[in-house]
Amino acid sequence: MKKNILIVGSGGREHALGWKLSKSQSVSMVYYCPGNGGTNNNLSFSITDFSKIKSFAIKNNCIVVVGPEEPLTKGIVNELSDSISVFGPTREAAQLESSKSFAKQFMKQNNISTAEFNSFSDPEKAKDFVYNTNKSLVIKADGLAAGKGVFVCDNKENALNAIDSIMIRKNFGNSGNVIVIEERLFGEEVSFIGLSDGNTIIPMATAQDHKRIYDNDKGLNTGGMGSFSPSKIISNDLFYDIINKIMKKTIHSMKKNSNPFVGFLYAGLMIEKDTQKPYVLEYNVRMGDPECQPIMMRMNSDLFDYIKGSISGTLDTLAPISWSENPAVCIVMAEKGYPLNHEKGNVIHGLNSNFGHNIKIFHAGTVRDNNNKILTSGGRVLGVTAIGSDFDRARSDAYDAVKKIYWGKDNQYYRKDIGLNVKPTI
Ligand code: AMP
Ligand code: GLY
Repeated sequence: MKKNILIVGSGGREHALGWKLSKSQSVSMVYYCPGNGGTNNNLSFSITDFSKIKSFAIKNNCIVVVGPEEPLTKGIVNELSDSISVFGPTREAAQLESSKSFAKQFMKQNNISTAEFNSFSDPEKAKDFVYNTNKSLVIKADGLAAGKGVFVCDNKENALNAIDSIMIRKNFGNSGNVIVIEERLFGEEVSFIGLSDGNTIIPMATAQDHKRIYDNDKGLNTGGMGSFSPSKIISNDLFYDIINKIMKKTIHSMKKNSNPFVGFLYAGLMIEKDTQKPYVLEYNVRMGDPECQPIMMRMNSDLFDYIKGSISGTLDTLAPISWSENPAVCIVMAEKGYPLNHEKGNVIHGLNSNFGHNIKIFHAGTVRDNNNKILTSGGRVLGVTAIGSDFDRARSDAYDAVKKIYWGKDNQYYRKDIGLNVKPTI
């Protein structure tokens, strides 16, 4: 019997997951809670209203697929899994993302390579540590901070200011009660994502994203201004190293600690410049956004089978996922000003242009108004994604599509260098 899907979330990642699931022979309807201007069958309840999500899913024969970290870390899987199928980690397993000190201790105990670190709950002790070290540092709020609680410091003054911002001025609320101070690593960053059922982990296609707001990786960190798949810097040897020494080890160690991890596990890695060794910078307990968009474009297999296999603990019975050989590139179009103040409510033109079959416009911060117009409603607005016979083709097709979309020259912004200036395969 066909199933319905209820996707929880409203970003480009959720649009891409729903788009892919809607192609499955096993899926009849895809609902979104709350979805965006590009998705249909949107439900208006909040992503943390677990009782409404649960009763809708029961009534409509839905499997619940959770996109963002917030409902996961608040325990949506704990709340729903007794009565319906829900895809994602429990609140306890989601601590890999919700507490940086939990994640760092876990990696240390299980010999998973990560930067040297110390945790502090006393700002004076944290400052003493900074005064007494000669190393370059990164200061991180322990809890969730929408990607903004990490300070990569060029000098001691930066580090002391970061401690003040997180622990004294409490710019991230209680997420800053504890901080992690890490040694700064140098190299290239890669997003490595796998799908786990608690025992087995199946790798997704490799990907990279561009986190900074401006070209040449300048300016503030964002959720991600663009992405591409496959990664340009993961050689075969490195791929197997990451699978065996990081991804499998993480899943086996979580299981050994009676805290099995089910769902997408995303390791944010730094491939260290001198040694080419992978280090885990962070875990996320969900798909990456915007990495999800090009990964979904390249997936030949039926995502539904793998989500079902993950929930039922049967991933070991499935074949490896088949991926298109063709690369895919996603350009994020944002409201100018993001990740700080920006406008919203601008009418987006050009969404019905004649885009080729290799292009998909994934919506994020958009809403559909009563006259069926699509308006901007958030910082990251669209993820314009193209798949192509080679990387340059995918890239230029994505940029050609971007040029057909318009909501005001002073209001729209995108990076011009997605996929450029990235080192080729080692
Ligand atoms: P996180 O949320 O922990 O991944 O940190 C956000 C970003 O900060 C990462 O994507 C990196 O660009 C940077 N970062 C985090 N930790 C380190 C580190 N130890 N060394 C260098 N850069 C880092
Ligand atoms: N693109 C980075 C993230 O999803 O956290």
